[in-house]
Amino acid sequence: MTAVTTETVKEKPSIYVEDLVIDFALDSALFNKQYMRAVNEVSFILKAGEALAVVGESGSGKSTCARALCRLYEPTSGKVWLQDVDINEKKNQLSQRDYAKEVQMIFQDPFGSLNTVHSIRHHLARPLKIHHPDLKSDEIERRVIELIERVGLSPAKQTADKYPHELSGGQRQRVAIARALAVGANFILADEPISMLDVSIRLGILNLMEDMKKDGIGFLYITHDIATARYFAERTAVMYVGHMVEWGNSDSVTQNPQHPYTQLLISAVPEPGIRKHRKEMARKADIPLWKPDSKGCPFAERCLNAIDKCKVSMPPVSQLAEDHFVRCYLY
Ligand SMILES: Nc1ncnc2c1ncn2[C@@H]1O[C@H](COP(=O)(O)OP(=O)(O)OP(=O)(O)O)[C@@H](O)[C@H]1O
Ligand SMILES: [Mg+2]
Repeated sequence: MTAVTTETVKEKPSIYVEDLVIDFALDSALFNKQYMRAVNEVSFILKAGEALAVVGESGSGKSTCARALCRLYEPTSGKVWLQDVDINEKKNQLSQRDYAKEVQMIFQDPFGSLNTVHSIRHHLARPLKIHHPDLKSDEIERRVIELIERVGLSPAKQTADKYPHELSGGQRQRVAIARALAVGANFILADEPISMLDVSIRLGILNLMEDMKKDGIGFLYITHDIATARYFAERTAVMYVGHMVEWGNSDSVTQNPQHPYTQLLISAVPEPGIRKHRKEMARKADIPLWKPDSKGCPFAERCLNAIDKCKVSMPPVSQLAEDHFVRCYLY
């Protein structure tokens, strides 16, 4: 187990991810099938009432991690625990319905996750009926209205009567959040929840999720944007080609980035009013296709500071501060 999960104090509801590995087949051969490793030895803790941002460029394995936490993918190896229950252990008999009650996912495109033929009322009443079968219809209606108000949509009654196409992208994302609240989830896996929204309304959605943290909900916040990670999430994990290369307290990771890949990501963030003199931060090289037998640090080919051993063995985890870790031979 890597350093991030060695804290064993289970004071709050938490999801523990321990050395998660996910391989995908590259072909359909019966023998000598080739695999790619989308996620390699990833470990983290997601706590109720806090947000963990997962940052990295396209293809770094962020969504694959989230899907494994939703039980859409079974780990090739490693474990995911909801408190002290291994979510993939058959003998635990944790039904998908019971698990979904705890862990919900919201997506980049809320339109895709809402059904065009159903009203907003239907979208919110359905999970209430499924997860609280004893609720009477007037109580369901009261809760639907309460949820719509909770996510900042008004007037609530008129919103309940609308259909997804009658709402804006931001309003639809608020409905998707309300649906996760209707289920009663303690954890929300938010896969780039604001990246398709107009810049002017992104902050509103982040602030709504911030309020939900105060109600005890834990977020896995997947983003390309390290600036919003720092704004919203207490902790940040930087991923590159399926590997967590740097993680810890968001202020530390973003203000004092140590891994050359994190430094590259931060240098790409535009600062208003400042035209940066672009310093070369990485070599031009293809992003590697990681395989189960690949060796070394995945960033080695692009890293300006790489030394010989970076290409042959995976750097161990180094602790830089109380809550700041890096996998890099420079430390
Ligand atoms: N179901 C699948 N079958 C095969 N390969 C997959 C599957 N899902 C993801 N991959 C591969 O795994 C790698 C990681 O993909 P993933 O979608 O997790 O990246 P990501 O970090 O979410 O990227 P993006 O920012 O573009 O959403 C990619 O190389 C992708 O092609
Ligand atoms: Mg993704």
